[in-house]
Amino acid sequence: MSAVDAEIKRLRQQITTHDQRYYVWDDPSISDAEYDLLMQRLKQLEQQHPELITATSPTQKVGGTPLSQFNSVMHRVPMLSLDNVYNDEGLGDFYQRVHDRLQQDSSLTSDWVCEPKLDGIAVSLTYANGIFVQGATRGDGMQGEDITANLKTLRSIPLQLNREQLTGENFPTLIEIRGEVLIAKSDFIALNQRSDLEKPFANPRNAAAGSLRQLDSRITATRPLSFYAYAVGYVEGGHLPATHWSRLQQLRQWGLRVNREVKLCADLSAVRDYFAALAAKRKSLDYEIDGVVCKINSMDAQQQLGFVARAPRWAVAYKFPAYQGITTLEAVEFQVGRTGVITPVARLTPVEIGGVVIRNATLHNQAEIERLGCQLQDQVLLHRAGDVIPKIIKTLVELRTDHTSPIIFPDHCPVCSTALERSDDHALTRCPNGLQCPAQLKAAIKHFACRQAMDVDGLGEKLIEQLVDVGHIRDIADLYRLDSATLAQLDRMGDKSADNLIAALHKSKNTTLPRLLFALGIRDVGLTTATQLAQHFGSLENLQHATESELLDVTDVGPIVAQHVLAFFQLPQNLDVIDRLQQAGVHWPNIHKTDTTAIADNRFFGKTIVITGTLPNLSRDDAKAKLEAFGAKVTNSVSKNTDFVLAGDNAGSKLEKAVALGIEIISIADLS
Ligand code: IVH
Repeated sequence: MSAVDAEIKRLRQQITTHDQRYYVWDDPSISDAEYDLLMQRLKQLEQQHPELITATSPTQKVGGTPLSQFNSVMHRVPMLSLDNVYNDEGLGDFYQRVHDRLQQDSSLTSDWVCEPKLDGIAVSLTYANGIFVQGATRGDGMQGEDITANLKTLRSIPLQLNREQLTGENFPTLIEIRGEVLIAKSDFIALNQRSDLEKPFANPRNAAAGSLRQLDSRITATRPLSFYAYAVGYVEGGHLPATHWSRLQQLRQWGLRVNREVKLCADLSAVRDYFAALAAKRKSLDYEIDGVVCKINSMDAQQQLGFVARAPRWAVAYKFPAYQGITTLEAVEFQVGRTGVITPVARLTPVEIGGVVIRNATLHNQAEIERLGCQLQDQVLLHRAGDVIPKIIKTLVELRTDHTSPIIFPDHCPVCSTALERSDDHALTRCPNGLQCPAQLKAAIKHFACRQAMDVDGLGEKLIEQLVDVGHIRDIADLYRLDSATLAQLDRMGDKSADNLIAALHKSKNTTLPRLLFALGIRDVGLTTATQLAQHFGSLENLQHATESELLDVTDVGPIVAQHVLAFFQLPQNLDVIDRLQQAGVHWPNIHKTDTTAIADNRFFGKTIVITGTLPNLSRDDAKAKLEAFGAKVTNSVSKNTDFVLAGDNAGSKLEKAVALGIEIISIADLS
């Protein structure tokens, strides 16, 4: 071997070793500048001696002649997708299914490998006798595109597997390695600022996809793409280890990068811990992940479990809650609420976000539509947090086509055609027609009948619609004039359900003052305010005759609520309704001053209480009402401001938290 030959060999060896120290082992031993010097020297020697250039030389990572198109490649083994689960229950079901299937042969029940679900582009790399010969995209899973030239430019993809490992009977003659190509978050930001891009990419995943799909591999070479191996797709010759975990270690030994967050987990609870830990770490990672992939470790078990449709039975993707999605705004409907407020509601092309299909989103008000600048048929970005109604957070104006049309906010009530009143800032539009507007009347009746108000069982939305539309009901007091015969004639009502409803209406007549005040639907008077008003004034008469300053004496009642209460009792039709309710037999006990003294002495007065678990013989609403009658405030979440936690059966995390915070735990017996 000539001296030049030897130097070239040594340089290639050094560069490959440094690439691997950097990418595979996260343990670089030289600076970038020193690395560049080695590369420059190699290039110089190869230029002087072109006959010594080989396909696997690190200098070949700069890209070559542009292609006119990508050829297609059949995968030797299909590139499958994964089934998704979105919560602990889904994970538990998956675990159980695997367990049940393997039951016949318990020696196969094994541990698990948990890996980050990398949010990039799946590729397959073929090495023949240790030399990278072909790289392909996933395509439709059966057939992908040949992107060998592009993948060769990635420094984390070795052109040749590790030399020391090449010998020995373990080494396969042909192996297809699967993994993900992605762009790091930090590299993505820098990439998007570059002037050679036609336009910026929307996210790192798009940037990776766009960069991999370049026909000119010299362009791909300038993009900061990196590769992580996560599986072996196909192998000929050699002996691979019998577990997925050891295979990942083997891939590392051969010089392929395996994600450092991969972990061996003994059981379901370890998988759960891994998921929680990775979710907590997600933001701090320099690459995008969208969940955890959980794979059974034993290759025998994988074999035995096999596949269903397009996904393996031996692995699952446990996705992090997705918060955002993109879809089309198809239409906007304008709903009239109980107090006449007009709320625009977006109808969307159904889209799945975190396992839930979203069809509607609130648009709040006209000002919000103006702020978003959205039009019909626009693509919009949606945000969903937990069970909250999804919200449109952005219009993707750059994707707008010629087919969009402006959203026209109505000038007249869509239900009763009365001219709408609009606040100057467009944040509030209201139909002033009150209970004369059928939409508001229906909403008022629904509210009156609801569980926390008069609690009329069996008076559903559809029935209310009919009763109002047919003209049987013009206000809430009319409800008590209904008879079985009239009801039985309505759609989907038989004699039996008519009788049941009459019985429920009859039962509801026996009520309490807080419930009645809440049921009347006075603006801004919710359950808590209604309870406070009831306790303060003791009777409806006292409240009716209260002056503004007397109202302001009530805890939590400010000038706005006081005005609403005064206005409500000034309207003759409201007094008429109350009169007719009483004539129909609606009654409630007054609250006596002595009760109020008792309340003030009570140990729950003024305290903040959280109810959790199932209470024996008492509904949660009743327990809440009881506590509120004692003058306590009932809230939902336990914090250091909580005074007591009322715990029933099967109380869970709230109880645990309360114990941890040293909060006093009470039981239902303490209320009597
Ligand atoms: S294993 C047969 N492991 O997820 C199982 N996939 O929905 C093959 N992905 O197309 C996949 N990270 O692009 C596996 N650690 C990981 C992964 C992973 C991301 C992607 C992959 C695949 C998709 C399946």
